[in-house]
Amino acid sequence: MRLLNKVVVVTGATGGIGQAQCRLFAKERAKVVLADIDEQKGFKLANDISVAGGSALFVNLDVSSESDWDSLVKITIERFKKIDVLVNNAGIYRTESIQEENTADWDRLMSVNLKGAFLGTKAVVQSMRSNKVGSIINVSSTTALVGSWRGGAYGASKAALLSLTKHSSIQNAKYGIRVNAVVPGPIETEMISKNISDPEGRALSESRILLGRLGSPSEVAYAILYLASDDSRYVTGTELLVDGGLTAQ
Ligand SMILES: NC(=O)c1ccc[n+]([C@@H]2O[C@H](COP(=O)([O-])OP(=O)(O)OC[C@H]3O[C@@H](n4cnc5c(N)ncnc54)[C@H](O)[C@@H]3O)[C@@H](O)[C@H]2O)c1
Repeated sequence: MRLLNKVVVVTGATGGIGQAQCRLFAKERAKVVLADIDEQKGFKLANDISVAGGSALFVNLDVSSESDWDSLVKITIERFKKIDVLVNNAGIYRTESIQEENTADWDRLMSVNLKGAFLGTKAVVQSMRSNKVGSIINVSSTTALVGSWRGGAYGASKAALLSLTKHSSIQNAKYGIRVNAVVPGPIETEMISKNISDPEGRALSESRILLGRLGSPSEVAYAILYLASDDSRYVTGTELLVDGGLTAQ
């Protein structure tokens, strides 16, 4: 019951890592607000969690829309009275090299991966500050730390998230709000399914990981649970690697 009575908002809730979090947090007795653009999956997940005895509410949210954030905060406060935890988890992925990337897709990616977390933070902080408690977790990626032959926009957005995390932790510490990042390596979800669908690509990814395998969504969810719960009450401004040792070498 590590999240007993905590109200937790998870964006990108219906994706691989999002679903794993929502199910785990509900088991830990949180009231979970599932935020995503995928309404069908969102209502189904909320229903599954409720049927299993948890507390879940789906809210349709495009993280890049300020007015959607205003509505989410309003709905959440009306229903649950407060917001204790926000996980800025929604993200989109692109593998085009910098030279092949086009500006419209660059802008779209930045508006979801980076502006989404900026808007989310702004939206929830007011309520957290008045309660003098809160935990915000930004989901970055090891692509923030190391370059690659492919991609560029995605890694740049995730690196900027680490800076947003540090600034935000400094500016909110005196209000009792902690802000941290998790930094996953390759995790088996729809997002990277193309990269790992051919056995050669998969073997190459795995050969670079100290623990010799890709991560699972629940392994990231447990790291986020730690940062969301009071177990991490003395932890802020940090970057928690969940990468099987990928970046230790
Ligand atoms: N899978 C990996 O290998 C990996 C590695 C490192 C970091 N991450 C990060 O973890 C997070 C979750 O990724 P995942 O692997 O579960 O991906 P996923 O593709 O399974 O899920 C992404 C979710 O985000 C939602 N989403 C997309 N655009 C949105 C928007 N504008 N507003 C609200 N929701 C939106 C999608 O509907 C989907 O439910 C992402 O931030 C991703 O960048 C993933």
